[in-house]
Amino acid sequence: MKKNNFDVLIIGSGLAGLATALKLADDKSIGIVCKTQLTESSSHWAQGGVAAAISSEDPISSHIKDTKNAGAGLCDEAITEFVANKSEKALDWLMNLGVNFTKNKQGNDLHLTREGGHSQMRVAHVADTTGKAIQEHLIQKILSHPNISVLEHHIAVDIITSEKMKIDMEKNTCLGAYILNNKNNHVETFTSNNIVLATGGASKVYLYTTNPDVSTGDGIAMGWRAGCKVANMEFVQFHPTCLFDEKDRSFLISETLRGEGAKLVLPSGETFMEKYDDRGDLAPRDIVAQAIDYEMKQKGLVCVYLDISEKSSDFIRKRFPMIYKRCLDRGIDITKEPIPVVPAAHYTCGGIMTDREGKTNINQLYAIGEVACTGLHGANRLASNSLLECLVFSSTAAASILSNDFTHEYQLPKWDESRVTDADEEVLITHTWNELRRFMWNYVGIVRTNKRLSRALHRINMLRDEVGEFYKNFKISSNLIELRNLLQVAELIVLSSIERKESRGLHYSKDFPKPAKIAKNTILKPEDYKNS
Ligand code: FAD
Ligand code: SIN
Repeated sequence: MKKNNFDVLIIGSGLAGLATALKLADDKSIGIVCKTQLTESSSHWAQGGVAAAISSEDPISSHIKDTKNAGAGLCDEAITEFVANKSEKALDWLMNLGVNFTKNKQGNDLHLTREGGHSQMRVAHVADTTGKAIQEHLIQKILSHPNISVLEHHIAVDIITSEKMKIDMEKNTCLGAYILNNKNNHVETFTSNNIVLATGGASKVYLYTTNPDVSTGDGIAMGWRAGCKVANMEFVQFHPTCLFDEKDRSFLISETLRGEGAKLVLPSGETFMEKYDDRGDLAPRDIVAQAIDYEMKQKGLVCVYLDISEKSSDFIRKRFPMIYKRCLDRGIDITKEPIPVVPAAHYTCGGIMTDREGKTNINQLYAIGEVACTGLHGANRLASNSLLECLVFSSTAAASILSNDFTHEYQLPKWDESRVTDADEEVLITHTWNELRRFMWNYVGIVRTNKRLSRALHRINMLRDEVGEFYKNFKISSNLIELRNLLQVAELIVLSSIERKESRGLHYSKDFPKPAKIAKNTILKPEDYKNS
């Protein structure tokens, strides 16, 4: 019989979720739910690698400095130092699990590569499929652990808290969750002493993104509805180099190509990044994406190009086997010709505010990985710091969960399944979803203005009423859950962007083109928006 009651319920099977599960499983009963298959996550698609100052020529202070520089004055100092200091341990943990990182030519040490914003070669990788290699090892361990139950095709709908149940507790406390079992279309009630949101980012709120379909900001929206504070949602990272393809604009061309010498060029072959930053092609991502956007708009281009063809064909095929093959499948031989690229939404720097242990402001509710805002990324994440963040906070959260002895036996209510489906309405959900992603791309993209932001907010308010009606009247479906969450996240991004009256890192406003003297986080609290 399926069990719906765990010591720890983990929502999400990316690196954050799986690493947390493995660090707890010897002592706790763990349930992992994921929207589709265990393998579907941004983590699986990570290419570049894991940042770690492990070379003798690379002091940890240099990793800290680069992270803070990229973060444009908003990184939390203590958290940044904490994470950078834990990076070697994080890598060791993966290697002990058997992850076979690419070695240098001599075969004795790890091969370290570079990405934008890094002053040193410090990114450990497994060729250009780092995420897949890591996830495969973790999944193998997860599936063989007797204390871990894996529930695929289970979509978390909402968190159940003491406040929602009107149970009198000293502080709002998480008690369980409603989860849609997509195999039988029933919403089931799960009870748990601790819940870990590890649901990843929200880049699917944009029309063009490098992210897989699961990145719809569900954890951020669920956390917000449950009462979590959310921070820095305006800082959406656009990756500068996504393969330009009319039919499928979602394949990432890793920044490590530039780390290994590739150049960004215009159709004429002329380079341009040196005009924007002394670090040229290896400037942090916010600067490179804004430069590409500017060049494309100014010259009326549909894309720019990334050229690595000066490197030997052998090197390219060995170092970037997956990218080489994916491009060749589309008729582009990267050993001979430049790759057409455009920026696309890639990473959600903001999220649910957490402390050093991954705790949210709701008791027994944790948030780890891209869903969280720990303070590490500030206004712009340094490349390859995300997998590192998942690893570091999975350890601190696991330690915190192990040290708390909260248990409860509240009978949580069943989901109200009295609503009926109207098949005709499914198409409306898809239309609304497309509309939302398109206007977020057009109005809340790399360059923002007050006018565009208020237009976006106006549309969000209209769609919210429509989607609210769907939600009240129709039987819940995965599309409806995601649309409702995307709309919530879009609102948080727009509200945060409107609050920031300056340009900093990933938030560039034509109306406030300069950074303010003092850098401040944008913190939104659900109680301030209850009646909006
Ligand atoms: P994810 O890996 O995205 O996992 C989220 C999980 O939550 C999924 O299992 C999903 O199914 C599940 N989920 C979501 N909502 C629900 C719900 N409602 N109910 C149930 N389950 C749910 N970072 C680096 O540091 N280095 C890199 O080289 C790198 N390369 C990248 C390349 C690509 C193409 C992309 C997209 C990102 C890359 N990043 C990289 C960023 C990094 O991969 C992610 O930030 C990180 O993997 C996020 O991990 P996560 O565990 O938080 O979330
Ligand atoms: C990349 O390989 O370019 C992505 C790395 C990251 O997002 O950290």
